[in-house]
Amino acid sequence: MKICRRETFNAAHRLFRENWSDEKNLEIFGKCSNPNYHGHNYVLEVYVEGTIDPETGYVIDLKILKELIHEYVLDRFDHRNLNLDCAEFKNINPTTENISKVIWEILREKLDSKFGLEVVLSETDKNKVIFNGK
Ligand code: NI
Repeated sequence: MKICRRETFNAAHRLFRENWSDEKNLEIFGKCSNPNYHGHNYVLEVYVEGTIDPETGYVIDLKILKELIHEYVLDRFDHRNLNLDCAEFKNINPTTENISKVIWEILREKLDSKFGLEVVLSETDKNKVIFNGK
């Protein structure tokens, strides 16, 4: 059984490779390579997989999951410039793929290993990435 906590955050980014020209960056990354950065309203869904605890009736207390996400993910990325403010993206492009992987790694470390974990991240309502460790 999987349960899900949905959160949202806003962040700015730029997708680019320093060793590529502005033209090539534009060709590969489109508007996301805009040199002056731009923002997205990210939607983050965190799925926790486990069994129902017979004492509580919960897989995991959603309040605990909410607090984990707020403390370790939202406080870190919300209203930030991912390229400039977040060391995680100093050397990797803050694509939805890479952001979801970073978030998964942060939460995996905080979550009891008895639970499965899957992170679903949307940069727009049309694009979505799912990461569960692979
Ligand atoms: Ni973008």
